[in-house]
Amino acid sequence: MTRILTGIQPSGELHIGNYFGAIKPMLEYQNDPNNEMFFFIADLHALTSLKNPAKFREYSKNAILDWLALGLDPAKSLFYRQSDVPAHTELFWYLLCLTPLGMLERAHSFKDKKAKGLDTNAGLFTYPMLMAADILLYSADKVPVGKDQKQHVEMSRDIAQKFNHTFGETFVLPEPDIQKNVQTIPGLDGQKMSKSYGNTIPIFADEKTLKKKIMSVKTESKSLGEPLNPDTCNVFAFHKLFENPNLAELREKYLTGKIGYGDSKKQLFELVWDYFAEARARRENFAGNWDEMEKIMQNGAKKAREISRAKLDEVREKVGVGLLV
Ligand code: ADP
Ligand code: TRP
Repeated sequence: MTRILTGIQPSGELHIGNYFGAIKPMLEYQNDPNNEMFFFIADLHALTSLKNPAKFREYSKNAILDWLALGLDPAKSLFYRQSDVPAHTELFWYLLCLTPLGMLERAHSFKDKKAKGLDTNAGLFTYPMLMAADILLYSADKVPVGKDQKQHVEMSRDIAQKFNHTFGETFVLPEPDIQKNVQTIPGLDGQKMSKSYGNTIPIFADEKTLKKKIMSVKTESKSLGEPLNPDTCNVFAFHKLFENPNLAELREKYLTGKIGYGDSKKQLFELVWDYFAEARARRENFAGNWDEMEKIMQNGAKKAREISRAKLDEVREKVGVGLLV
């Protein structure tokens, strides 16, 4: 059995970077009975950037709805909210007390956010260790993430090793699992697609918004009839990602100047719209049925609390806290 775990922050609408980097691989793993699956909503992580309770609730609810719509099956995967499981924040503290500041200072994600002038609080700075707690509590072997999170998973591994070395063998060392041919999906402006950069293509945007977003994917300026280079074109890269069945033909049209970016984008819109049609229908079925969804989350939380509590008890004993005799 392989334990596979991933979390996603409910910090905005899910986008196609999330889908190809994290969601799709998890859905594929879910169908293999040799895998034990853990999916969670990393809502405590989202607090590092979100300070609006109404938005926070809305995003958390939508994240749950979106994952169920996209095919997460609670009968096959343990699905829970991080904030429902107190062991995460307690283990976070034990890990922080072993963490050299330099390790956190080297985190690319923190450095990028700081360089972009985003709110840098201590939560954001220490967040790789909360992520380590998320992973280590469940003895996850494999953690599917986008390339941007690889370093964080490596930090989880390093801190697990340090803990094992200091207090004795306790944690399984997790491996980041990066989709080889997906890597980092570019956003509308060509840099990494990310909610924090406002350059996303949301999975469940309405038709008009989706079209507008896709039409605004950044391309070189070329006049109509000029040949285009499919290998450097973001729009073409998306056609590939969405498995356009006529890719070879489209490539030919690019090379011979028989298609402009505008047309290529229109075709891409159709492709993306159809790609998520089934998920959209499931989402409509679920929407508004919050009682049922809350029940799913409570069930998941109960099991997650049991598993994580057992690990935390072991950790407490190793560290030496809370014992009179
Ligand atoms: P965001 O950067 O939009 O805030 P998150 O940090 O919540 O996204 O990412 C959730 C998951 O989706 C992570 O596993 C992350 O690696 C993956 N992911 C996010 N953006 C991309 C991207 N542009 N390409 C590939 N994977 C991504
Ligand atoms: N930090 C991850 C992100 O922003 C989300 C996350 C939190 C996560 N805890 C995790 C991903 C544990 C994998 C495993 O994308």
